Amino acid sequence: MKKIIWIKHASQLATLASGKQGPRAKTDMSELGIIEDGSLWIENGYIQAVGTTRELEGKYGERAEEAEIVDASGCLVTPGLVDPHTHVVYGGSREREFEMRLEGATYMDIMNAGGGIHATTRMTRDASEAELIEQATRRLDSFLAHGVTTVEGKSGYGMNLETELKQLRVMKKLQETHPIDLVPTFMGAHAVPLEYKGREDEFIDYLIENVLPVVMEEGLAVFNDVFCEKGVFTPEQSERMLEAGKRVGLIPKIHADEIESYGGAELAAKVGAISAEHLLKASEEGIQAMAKSGTIACLLPATALYLREEAAAGRRMIDEGVPVAISTDCNPGSSPTTSMPLVMNLACISMRLTPAEALTAATYNAACAIKSEDKVGSLEIGKQGDVVLWDVKNYQELQYLFGVNHVKSVWKKGVQVVG
Ligand code: NIG
Ligand code: FE
Repeated sequence: MKKIIWIKHASQLATLASGKQGPRAKTDMSELGIIEDGSLWIENGYIQAVGTTRELEGKYGERAEEAEIVDASGCLVTPGLVDPHTHVVYGGSREREFEMRLEGATYMDIMNAGGGIHATTRMTRDASEAELIEQATRRLDSFLAHGVTTVEGKSGYGMNLETELKQLRVMKKLQETHPIDLVPTFMGAHAVPLEYKGREDEFIDYLIENVLPVVMEEGLAVFNDVFCEKGVFTPEQSERMLEAGKRVGLIPKIHADEIESYGGAELAAKVGAISAEHLLKASEEGIQAMAKSGTIACLLPATALYLREEAAAGRRMIDEGVPVAISTDCNPGSSPTTSMPLVMNLACISMRLTPAEALTAATYNAACAIKSEDKVGSLEIGKQGDVVLWDVKNYQELQYLFGVNHVKSVWKKGVQVVG
């Protein structure tokens, strides 16, 4: 296989270049850096030139024979999508709960009765590493098929030393075996395990004293996430966990205000979290605080739909100056999907993001939410050759023809992995 990929004649090449805002999550999310009749030269895995086909012909015409040439006529080309929030490594599945919810049970009812996150925790504790790798590999393959080339993954279905480590070690192994870049997050505080019921503070102590040090010793995580929610962890407990993570070098994230308004957005701003997740019930003060602190709102419209809740106020957040990213939240309970294209569609339909904003939220801003914007999220010189060729003529069509996978080809670090 040739080491050079030369994509030519894209009807639109959306670079998502960082532009005048510099390398920070974009608050003006409408500028896609579109090049018509676009072209891209990827050499040894990295982007070496971006421009019009004519410009690149002038520069590389003499080296055409060295390259594998891709004719992108009539197609849209974008950076590989980035999913900044998943629970992709888990055991088992929970299709019966889907039925129960349609029959009237709520997400929290099921969890409080020992199902939900607790059910997946049991199945993950029981699964071998090999089983977890096998299941997660299938999900990552599906992510790739939907144009996703970078994925964040959380622990949190162990909630004890042994299984938290097992989940994180599985993620480390998947890094070696799967083309997707998997960015690991420690989420020991995902729920209060049944054996600690009513002793939430003791469980936080346990995580801080017994689990966190081993996670750091083995270098298994970059971020630290907490489920700050009424009936799970209070803002005070969440803050304690996140501050402990900060002291050892983990960057905070928060599952915030998903089911009830609980001060999660405010806490995200206070502790300097890189992102706050969900935010369906975020307060006005919380949104303002996030705009001030530059905290990224990581919004999960597929989860809202799946739980039959009203989506987060994405439009208003952008209008208030909050940078927005979007994600599948891929998990066995509230959003068992791997389709970022569907999530982009839903971001438009249920949160009123424009088609351009939805693409920014799934690429550049998503990369910023997992501190990977120096490598992925836009088509710029020096970045990884992570590219998607879509069978649509422009970015509006990508969001307009909804619920369909328009991916034609995907390259990861310049190697074709789909199509
Ligand atoms: O982001 N809300 C907490 N955690 C996940 C759901 C996990 C599960 O139900 O297994 C979420 O929605
Ligand atoms: Fe989640």
